[in-house]
Amino acid sequence: MRKKIALIGGGQIGQILAMIAAQKELGDIVILDIPELENPAKGKALDLMEMAPHGNYDAAITGSSDYKDIAGADVVIITAGRPRQAGMTREDLLAVNLDIITKVAAGVKQYAPQAFCIIVTNPLDAMVYAFYKLTGFPRNQVVGMAGTLDTARWRAFIAMELGVSVNDVAGTVLGGHGPDMVPLPRLTTVGGVPLTEIATKEQIDKLATRTREAGTEIVKLFGKGSAFFSPAWSAIVIAESYLKDKRRVLPCAALCQGEYGVKGLFIGVPVMIGAKGMEKVYEIKLNDEEKAMLQKTVGVVQKTVEETKL
Ligand code: APR
Repeated sequence: MRKKIALIGGGQIGQILAMIAAQKELGDIVILDIPELENPAKGKALDLMEMAPHGNYDAAITGSSDYKDIAGADVVIITAGRPRQAGMTREDLLAVNLDIITKVAAGVKQYAPQAFCIIVTNPLDAMVYAFYKLTGFPRNQVVGMAGTLDTARWRAFIAMELGVSVNDVAGTVLGGHGPDMVPLPRLTTVGGVPLTEIATKEQIDKLATRTREAGTEIVKLFGKGSAFFSPAWSAIVIAESYLKDKRRVLPCAALCQGEYGVKGLFIGVPVMIGAKGMEKVYEIKLNDEEKAMLQKTVGVVQKTVEETKL
């Protein structure tokens, strides 16, 4: 039997998620949006069905505004919520998106209580925390997509700067999904060669700053709305690792229970995603400078999470 993927939110990211999931034949797809946008969700689903002959995929893709239609989903990817506009921080979205996540959590808890859930809605670290608290799902069943995107951006900028294949750039970005996130140049390699040996300190600082501000750079360019191609692919990578038990090690916002000295918060850390969901958190021995940076981003996440009052 085919797997089932429920996409809660059928906007910019949701529609790209549907397209990539279909092209990768990850399973049947339900795009769920609010009743006012049920027809656009159905329209996008039908459009994707009509793309299938050229896209070479078999998948049933449907649109809905009724949570009954997500019943039995293996994976739920949540993008429901407002995106940033120019001049806004992710934290500015807290009140409006918390309200949306509260409704989404109720629907997912009722109709897809076994699903592995990937949260994309911003402010990411607070929204994944809220979803976890509101559903009461176990720790392994809920992750936030942010580190995977931040690391993709870090890798992309390095490849662009050095003129090398992005496939050969490996690294990770820790922390919250905001300007205080922590790229780790010390542990980044290009085809096995340490980044610190092939790039100057100035280059590395510039790349780290660009990574931290990458979302804002896109928001400024778009004028309206935020990034959607790269967030969608990042969520798909996590979903695919779960569905196929690939056991990939990816940076995700995961509930820390003492790892990195953090308790009870979702923070971007390297985790293994397999058939049981978020199966393992990997702890890295950080140096003092990295530890201080991580502490700073954790403080920012803590503050935003406190505002959810959950
Ligand atoms: N249930 C389901 N869908 C909802 C709900 C709800 N309660 N409330 C809003 N939505 C839908 C909107 O109708 C819209 O179609 O969520 C969709 C969001 O799509 P966009 O506005 O295009 O936003 P997008 O760019 O996809 O970003 C979604 O991800 O990266 C984050 O900051 C970003 O929080 C934003 C989210």
